[in-house]
Amino acid sequence: MSTKKGVRGSILTFVADPFVVDSDKSYRYYEDGLVLLADGKIDKVGPYQDLDRLLNDDFEVLDYSGYLITAGCIDTHVHYPQTPMIAGYGEHLLEWLNEYTFPTELKLKDKAFATSVAKMFLKTTLKAGTTTSVVYGTVFKDSVDAFFEESERLGTRMLCGKVWMDRNAPDGLLDTPQSAYDDSKELIERWHNNGRQKYVVTPRFAPSCTGEQLQKAGELYREYPDVYIQTHLCENTGEIDWVKELFPEQKSYTDVYDHYGLVGERAVFGHCVHFNDDDFKTLSEKKAAISHCPTSNLFLGSGLFDLERSKTGKYPCLVGLGTDIGAGTSFCQLQTLNEAYKVSELLDHKMTAIKGYYLATLGGAESIYLDDKIGSITEGKEADMVAWDLHSTELIKYRMSFSKSLEENLFTQLVMGDDRSVRATMVNGEVVYDRDSGFYKEL
Ligand code: GUN
Ligand code: ZN
Repeated sequence: MSTKKGVRGSILTFVADPFVVDSDKSYRYYEDGLVLLADGKIDKVGPYQDLDRLLNDDFEVLDYSGYLITAGCIDTHVHYPQTPMIAGYGEHLLEWLNEYTFPTELKLKDKAFATSVAKMFLKTTLKAGTTTSVVYGTVFKDSVDAFFEESERLGTRMLCGKVWMDRNAPDGLLDTPQSAYDDSKELIERWHNNGRQKYVVTPRFAPSCTGEQLQKAGELYREYPDVYIQTHLCENTGEIDWVKELFPEQKSYTDVYDHYGLVGERAVFGHCVHFNDDDFKTLSEKKAAISHCPTSNLFLGSGLFDLERSKTGKYPCLVGLGTDIGAGTSFCQLQTLNEAYKVSELLDHKMTAIKGYYLATLGGAESIYLDDKIGSITEGKEADMVAWDLHSTELIKYRMSFSKSLEENLFTQLVMGDDRSVRATMVNGEVVYDRDSGFYKEL
């Protein structure tokens, strides 16, 4: 089979951060565009009329004319084991963890079950137009193997790690500082930079980790120069009060993580809803990232994250979007942006469609230090792309007939679109999902 491909359609891709530069300087748009791919990488991108002369019989051409092609979306905070428990009714964070999360995560001790969940998670992710996610496993190392095995088979660039918890969880879910360190190290050796997979050291959050365990997590993060770290931070006011009780010697929740050396490049902090200047300053200076999880923050009643302040305030931070499934309510970044827009409105800020699409793609990639590989349709990058149907429902089609600009088209999608808008998803230059033919890359 030919390894050279051409993909034709309307192409939108980012070259800079629209929170920093003028919106129209942040992206390139080719109404009738062409991407040339070779061996899973992007070779050339531009207007069809400039590049079609390069097409010859060696090329397989995918014609998505009339569809919008973007880089695959990036989800910077999500829990694959929680796929079976989305829509857990009626609780805020700490009660929700006890009522729904821990009992579900216990079930992933069985690797066969973990594999079935990983398969469902990855399929749903790809069908929602997301090609890279920063993922929590469970405390069981087999559950991380199950996830990476399926990601490897699909060829996706995924980041995942074993959850650390040595207190305040059911006995069956507890590890120890040493076992968490040993299991994670074994998984790093097996999976980190194995093909497209990356490893994330994953202490769940300060209430479920002793200081000794956070210390060990920091050691591991420093031991491997390009390994990641992820945890939750300042999501819920009850959680913040609890951290004060558990770590009375630290000035703040952020300082707890900073004290144990967990704040730095390739660290991703989920939520950061209840943040002050000192918190933003620490993350900004240490070049750590925030994952903004609006559907989750609304679903659990956690609060309103100030996106504008996090990006353009006194202490600008790296920010990506997170679905935070299963507290989040949609796998699709269009729906995540729909809620992000509403949260911004409540805080009296404007989140434009251009800013939204940037956050879902290049912004996410920058926040996890992978913008040399993914996040835009740029020569040399890996060809993870999505073809979006801009007329996926009768109502969207009707609404689009009144639209007068690219921005209006994009905003309509961001508010009204969802996984039905995904016509096809490409991973490393290969179509892994095609809505219309029903194709999905199963074994
Ligand atoms: N804080 C600690 N664990 C979790 C989790 O699984 N989901 C969310 N939303 N917050 C958490
Ligand atoms: Zn989470």
